[in-house]
Amino acid sequence: MSLLLQAQDPEGGMALDDDEVRDQALIFLLAGHETTATTLTFTMHLLGLHADAQQRVLDEVRSILGTRTPTIEDTRALEYATMVKEAMRLYPAAYAIPRLAVKDDEINGYRIPAGSVAVSSPWVTHRHPKYWDEPEEFDPDRFTAEREKARPRYAYFPFGGGPRACIGQYFSMLEAVIVTAMLVRDYQFTAAKQQIKLFTGITLRPAEPVLSRIERR
Ligand code: HEM
Repeated sequence: MSLLLQAQDPEGGMALDDDEVRDQALIFLLAGHETTATTLTFTMHLLGLHADAQQRVLDEVRSILGTRTPTIEDTRALEYATMVKEAMRLYPAAYAIPRLAVKDDEINGYRIPAGSVAVSSPWVTHRHPKYWDEPEEFDPDRFTAEREKARPRYAYFPFGGGPRACIGQYFSMLEAVIVTAMLVRDYQFTAAKQQIKLFTGITLRPAEPVLSRIERR
């Protein structure tokens, strides 16, 4: 809030008025709440199905954190817990990113008339066999630094890209890694063998309760 209230337009020197500050605060709450929450639901479901991956998160958390509360430095060291962003490959909260064409255009030989809507879809690209072996399988090891580097930049884009990319992406990853690490440290998750039905509104989310047995370690 302090940053918003102090912000100045570099061209006009104008500050945001109260309505604009309110709108910005609201968009942060709306854009930032459900997306990360559903991502964590899918993450815990997938870790609950894949005991080996959950064990690797646990081993890492125990060796880096022990019983401490994580610091920012810890989150950088939690490499495997970060690689669990594989959950957002399979279930990207922003599964489709639309754009309205303001004028006629052509992309790769496809005509895009003014006024039409072009959609890029993380869901489709994230499961495209051209970029992913066994695309339906959950495998956090796809996100080792080397394997990420070997892939085209936009094979994975849960936060969009370009000038309108998600402004909350680093904050969201911070939240997700901390919450995943602390949940797995304290609880064992066993997912029900459930084919989750999906609901596609503005965001992708489960259409039904996601069942899991949660036991304190
Ligand atoms: C897993 C979590 C999240 C996902 C998957 C996600 C995804 C996205 C995507 C794909 C966009 C670009 C939309 C477009 O290009 O049309 C976007 C924009 C945005 N996101 Fe996120 N987001 C997440 C978390 C957050 C958080 C935590 C915040 C704020 C604290 C946030 C705030 C925003 C805002 C303000 C925009 C609009 C940016 C702009 O237009 O300049 N998001 N998000």
